[in-house]
Amino acid sequence: MALIAYKCPRYKVTVVDINPDRIAKWNSDTLPIYEPGLDEVVKAARGRNLFFSTDIEDGIRSSEIIFVSVNTPTKTFGTGAGMAADLQYWEKTARQIRDCADSPKIIVEKSTLPVKTAQAMQRILTAGDYKNRFEVLSNPEFLAEGTAISDLEHPDRVLIGSAETPGGLKARDELVEIYANWVPQARILTTSIWSSELSKLVSNAFLAQKISSINSISALCEKTDANVAEVAKAVGMDSRLGDKFLNASVGFGGSCFKKDILNLVYLCRYYGLDEVADYWEGVVRINEYQQERFVINMLSNMFNTLAGKKICLLGFAFKANTGDTRESPAIHISRRLVEERARLVLTDPQALENARTDLKDLTGRIDYIDDPYAASSGCDAIAVITEWQAYKALDFEKIYGSMTKPAFIFDGRNILDHERLFKIGFNVFPIGKPA
Ligand code: UGA
Repeated sequence: MALIAYKCPRYKVTVVDINPDRIAKWNSDTLPIYEPGLDEVVKAARGRNLFFSTDIEDGIRSSEIIFVSVNTPTKTFGTGAGMAADLQYWEKTARQIRDCADSPKIIVEKSTLPVKTAQAMQRILTAGDYKNRFEVLSNPEFLAEGTAISDLEHPDRVLIGSAETPGGLKARDELVEIYANWVPQARILTTSIWSSELSKLVSNAFLAQKISSINSISALCEKTDANVAEVAKAVGMDSRLGDKFLNASVGFGGSCFKKDILNLVYLCRYYGLDEVADYWEGVVRINEYQQERFVINMLSNMFNTLAGKKICLLGFAFKANTGDTRESPAIHISRRLVEERARLVLTDPQALENARTDLKDLTGRIDYIDDPYAASSGCDAIAVITEWQAYKALDFEKIYGSMTKPAFIFDGRNILDHERLFKIGFNVFPIGKPA
């Protein structure tokens, strides 16, 4: 919404949230999330045509277009627990819009939702004694964290799903007009609502599938002395496959991939498509396997015991350039290492505060240290979890000098110079390459 405000000074954008602390942070000099380039965009538009407020009712009443971006986590209870999307926040929002709107509105689904949610929302919005016309559009977001601003400025595509009715098409055109302020028309794709909702789930499922595919091959490379980076390069040069998203890793994290795939799996099962559901569920299973495999590799290479050993995790965020730790492989890996009775030291340039919350039940068993040199000092092993560029430039001779010997490095992102580390004296274990 900040970027829309920034690019379209003619529109007034009001962001409302029930959480007053969060809104206060959006109105302050320290934004509640770390995202490169976001500060500048917010500062340029805030107070001009971008406003942050807790007055939700006023936000609804005073706007013609309402983007709903409430969270839709995986259900933790009842039917579909662990798989289906929990739509309670979305539904409450729809009811609130219906109850306090006093003029026609266009409602835009921004949250990722299962197919046919828009239909349900349309019914809620028009149930009972409603006075206004509501048009529901689907406009899924494809930005990735860490590159959000450039993804928004130069999107591969903007997708807008609408009903094929005159009202639906008119609403769709209004939304197209907003994006057309900076996105070329050819990149603005319009479809039916269901295609749009489904495309979001499928895009994430395909992206995650690419990572799970290369991660599964990394396990085979370790057994056969092939090098997964060389395989990925050779495979990715086929333009039908493409060279992106082929970096073998400790596994994918983030708030979206797992949730969206499980959602897709649930939908397939609901429609009796068990084979299709099993196929996509495999992507999540390989991801869990990859995280666990990383821990088992550490254990077996460190003489089958981690008890009392001190291990430093370099990075905790689910990817570089964000402080977000949701579904980060670091969470599973930390828990498993503590289970093996290792002593953990966590370091990350942006994510330590979130890490503390994620692992608060393990207080006293983990140290959190900002400086990577201080964090790795006295450790038996380092495990690279997040691909922060800064880690490449660390002085590993100095680090080696301060560590307990034999010193181990497990590079879960293949970002370091493994040959050089080996020459320094480290026992080096990359992903998908011979040790
Ligand atoms: C992902 C999608 O890339 C976005 O298009 C989508 O809009 C977003 O989910 C969403 O649904 O909101 P995001 O989760 O922010 O974006 O980050 P990604 O860059 O996709 O990375 C996801 C995970 O995959 C990270 O843990 C990353 O380290 C890992 N990854 C990525 C790999 O392990 N290997 C790769 O080659 C690429």
